[in-house]
Amino acid sequence: MPTHPATATAPSRPELAVRTAVLKQAAQSAVEYLEALDGRPVAPRQDAVAALAALREPLPESPADPMEVVRQLSEIGGPASMTISGGRFFGFVIGGCLPAAMAASWLVSTWDQNAGLWVASPVGAELEDTAVEWTRQLLGLPEGTAGGVVTGATVANFTALAAARHHLLARAGWDVEADGLFGAPELRVVVGEEAHPSLLKSLAMLGLGKKRVLRVPVDGQGRMRADALPHLDERTILCLQAGNINTGAFDPAAAICPPARAAGAWIHVDGAFGLWAAASPRYSHLVKGFELADSWATDGHKWPNIGYDCGLALVRHSAALEAAMSLRAAYLGHSDRREPSDYTPELSRRARGIELWAGLKQLGRSGMAEIVERTCAHAQRFAAGLKAAGFDVLNEVVLNQVLVSFGDAEKTARVIACLQADGVCWCGPTAWQGKSAMRISVSSWVTSEDDVEKSLAAVLRAAAGSSR
Ligand SMILES: Cc1ncc(COP(=O)(O)O)c(C=O)c1O
Repeated sequence: MPTHPATATAPSRPELAVRTAVLKQAAQSAVEYLEALDGRPVAPRQDAVAALAALREPLPESPADPMEVVRQLSEIGGPASMTISGGRFFGFVIGGCLPAAMAASWLVSTWDQNAGLWVASPVGAELEDTAVEWTRQLLGLPEGTAGGVVTGATVANFTALAAARHHLLARAGWDVEADGLFGAPELRVVVGEEAHPSLLKSLAMLGLGKKRVLRVPVDGQGRMRADALPHLDERTILCLQAGNINTGAFDPAAAICPPARAAGAWIHVDGAFGLWAAASPRYSHLVKGFELADSWATDGHKWPNIGYDCGLALVRHSAALEAAMSLRAAYLGHSDRREPSDYTPELSRRARGIELWAGLKQLGRSGMAEIVERTCAHAQRFAAGLKAAGFDVLNEVVLNQVLVSFGDAEKTARVIACLQADGVCWCGPTAWQGKSAMRISVSSWVTSEDDVEKSLAAVLRAAAGSSR
């Protein structure tokens, strides 16, 4: 490699030795962490959590040796972490982190890229653009769809809905970015009864209100009832869901989208995890119709296993997203290339598009399909094992989510507590249409058949132990 004149004769900088030593120590600690995963309980032990008190010290008055900082973090912090990178964490909907995405994350931190502007990080800008396009293709969305990489589906919902707000109000002759919502033409927002709370939070942040939405009744799986939709028109934002957090069920987009489009409504899809079913030929029928929407929110850190944090806002009408998000100032020196900050709420931000690029590159189309199909098969195995043992599986297991009740609310809570304390696996509680349940979400690329069998046995043990 040719040497740059500025570096040809320069002695190596003193901090280089510190940086390399710290990186090597972190790498060593990370490897030890991964090697110990199988032998530790999934939830951190109580003594490990209590030991965190040692890190909650008063603000240090003077600097510390970075090696010592990393050592303390690894020795005290690591044991107090939830074992999400193992194969037996089934809480919420949380994916693992693919090797390429994990390593990319280290490189991104080492490079310390600011992905807000092309000029500040050509690699951040170019790979984000590529990763957004790959995601569009995997999700089967229309050509020309624009998007940005954000922290998660909450912010993705916010970003896409800001584009919706812009588009509908601009059509009504109102410039919401300039004039705000004071005196603006009224928009109606329609959501399903089972809309995720983060969607409602996004509406609240946009001044559209959590409470003033029209809620459409749902069926027993949480799917919006197409026959119960209110009047839709060109001032309506209709929010659909692809993948219910509890049941994994999908709103019937194929029935809802064509008339909603004909009425001029903006259709937004919260598809935090469910939209990725599109990547699998076996499951893509579930997302039929969602491609007719105007905007979509999804997560990289759930099913694609990109690692935290990574979400995507995707919008059919690029101009609407840019109008809602772009920030122009002379000092920023915008280029005529795609400027990442034109598509997200932030200006400065981490180059998480690089991690998304790396993870999707590792997987390819068939790798993404394989994760979807394997985790769904694991969910089926859980459901079959629980049913065979006489427990009530509350949902139709169409995807990677399983809801199980062990009897009344108290008994179900006891089983969950017992399972979490046992440590072989980790599942959390939920409520489903008036019933208490335990939710099993199989979202990690790491989970093997052996993990499922061990976990199922642990669940059945906890259920048997809790009935005594
Ligand atoms: C349907 C749905 N929407 C939104 C979210 C919020 O996603 P995030 O936590 O990435 O912001 C979730 C999280 O599970 C979800 O399942």
